[in-house]
Amino acid sequence: MVAILLGPPGVGKGTQGVRLCEARGLSHVSTGDLLRAARREGTSLGREAQAFMDRGELVPDSVIMGMVREALEELGSDTGVVFDGFPRTIPQAEGLDAVLTDLGRSVDRVVVLQADDETLVKRLSGRRTCSQCGAVFNVFFDAPSVEGQCDRCGASALEQRTDDAHETVRNRLGVYRSQTAPLIEFYSERAGVVKHVDGDRSVDAVAADLSAALD
Ligand code: AP5
Repeated sequence: MVAILLGPPGVGKGTQGVRLCEARGLSHVSTGDLLRAARREGTSLGREAQAFMDRGELVPDSVIMGMVREALEELGSDTGVVFDGFPRTIPQAEGLDAVLTDLGRSVDRVVVLQADDETLVKRLSGRRTCSQCGAVFNVFFDAPSVEGQCDRCGASALEQRTDDAHETVRNRLGVYRSQTAPLIEFYSERAGVVKHVDGDRSVDAVAADLSAALD
């Protein structure tokens, strides 16, 4: 299984991707998470990506494709994969097809998650991420038991992502519409591959529909 979670910032790709992969024993490949890890480690890739991410712009396709090829080769061809936040441009989608063909695989399912901008902006402004273990919370929808403290690992390390600042979020939404949304049409040309799921409901309700969309 090779599945893609497609949708605007804050729609729940990460939340659902982690949950789905845990439930089904699949591998979660989030290009955003890979880039943030590279930034934390201070690698040359992380330094290259930093300015793009802080402005809410896309990191160049060549950087992303190298990273994804490496991740896929490490996983091997038998591992089911859920991509989150990738591909984000038509050249990335074409690049993914080429890498998968080399590995004897193809994209099986693209699930498009949707929610209106008001919901997305509120979710992103309330998101807090644990810098120690990566757990994600939301001060409006899924608050930690103790303010600023991670319920999963106990660290007092809940942080707001720098690209969740209001102006950057507006920019990310615009970039999604102009550069990523065209992928819905790109994949719709493949019969039965694209499924739509309403992401503007509870996490459990979205997870149930997402799971059904993969079957
Ligand atoms: P990336 O990390 O991929 O960010 P994104 O696509 O903007 O998505 P988010 O992580 O913001 O949102 P999400 O949909 O995962 O929502 P989440 O589940 O966290 O990319 C960041 C940057 O890296 C990009 O801007 C770009 O610069 C670069 N980049 C990454 N990939 C790239 C690529 N392929 N090409 C080029 N550049 C790339 O949920 C959000 C919040 O809402 C959380 O607090 C969560 O708890 C809450 N929530 C989730 N679901 C629900 C629900 N159903 N009800 C209530 N609250 C909910």
